Amino acid sequence: MMSPFTVAIDGPAAAGKGTISKEVAVHFDLAHLDTGLLYRAVGARMLRGEDPTAAAQTLVASDLENPELRTADVAQAASKVAVIPEVRAALLNFQRAFARRSGGAVLDGRDIGTVICPRAEVKLFVTASAEVRAQRRLSELQERGFDTDLETVLADVKARDDRDMTRADAPLRPAGDAVTIDTSELSIGEAVAQAIAAVKVRCD
Ligand code: C5P
Repeated sequence: MMSPFTVAIDGPAAAGKGTISKEVAVHFDLAHLDTGLLYRAVGARMLRGEDPTAAAQTLVASDLENPELRTADVAQAASKVAVIPEVRAALLNFQRAFARRSGGAVLDGRDIGTVICPRAEVKLFVTASAEVRAQRRLSELQERGFDTDLETVLADVKARDDRDMTRADAPLRPAGDAVTIDTSELSIGEAVAQAIAAVKVRCD
């Protein structure tokens, strides 16, 4: 595969981006960055009382290892700090440098194909209905021992979608040249196979 080679994978919460991104990265031997973790790390520091912009400007690798980053509270905090243009600006260069590393990279998030890497060699938009996404997130949270229900998770997913899609700076939307994969009715294996096929078209 030519390098640098960037695969940009965007989409709403719990659509399957994370799994697809990891599998695509392994399949093509590319580095992977889950950019949501950066916003979650800033959100977690805001919940501890820090100014979000200052937190984004001083983020360090150990911030990304905080086990609380996967909680629902941190997810909501992440989508709140993500509307702040100064927070997004502070995280931009790191993401762009990662995207162009030699050997190639897969980045997943909300604005990778539109803002971070508008010239990515491959752009995928991974989506699914809000109900399917909420059900998947519920199973994931229950497996990790969180006590919650579908109604709460669906409301959380919709609140986050709304904030991500309506913000002025880098709203969630498919890039004009993105390949959309709707995973509502696909197994993980089928979704991954579609993503791998879409990448192959661009690198053969
Ligand atoms: O992908 P994940 O659910 O971990 O992202 C958490 C939040 O971070 C999203 O709801 C979104 O508000 C924000 N985010 C973003 N841009 C990205 C990745 C995540 O605004 N590239």
